[in-house]
Amino acid sequence: MMQFIEWTTQMSVGSDVLDGHHKMIIECLNRLYPLIGAVGRDAEIHAVLAKLEDFVLVHFSEEEQCMKKGGYLDWQAHKEQHDKMYDIVFGLKSDVEHGRELDAKKLFDIIYNWLLQHILKEDKKYEKFINNTVNDPHGVWVRSNGRPY
Ligand SMILES: [Fe+2]
Ligand SMILES: [Fe+2]
Repeated sequence: MMQFIEWTTQMSVGSDVLDGHHKMIIECLNRLYPLIGAVGRDAEIHAVLAKLEDFVLVHFSEEEQCMKKGGYLDWQAHKEQHDKMYDIVFGLKSDVEHGRELDAKKLFDIIYNWLLQHILKEDKKYEKFINNTVNDPHGVWVRSNGRPY
């Protein structure tokens, strides 16, 4: 199958689990690429959207937990970006459920412009924190109930 893009170690964010999720996004792009402009491939396009739903549900919360644990101070701004993407993906899901056609190019562009760029620019910023297991010395990440995150 024609590969549009390949995962490289330069895309690594320092966590095998999170890298594994990101590879799923690369796979989505590669699955969509040959569907652009093709006819009668709705089932395959919908299957990619289903993968994307899994991704935003599993990956975003996992990543947010890792950022908090690692003491990455900008995690809330990062989470806001996740929330926007979440709304976009579940908006598409709702459109499809209401019988609206989902164009492969539209889905491809969303993943490419939004998500891949997010991974390469924003996710990369937490890389040096992600394996940091030391508790934050300033106690910023203590919940209101006194327990650390
Ligand atoms: Fe990510
Ligand atoms: Fe992220």
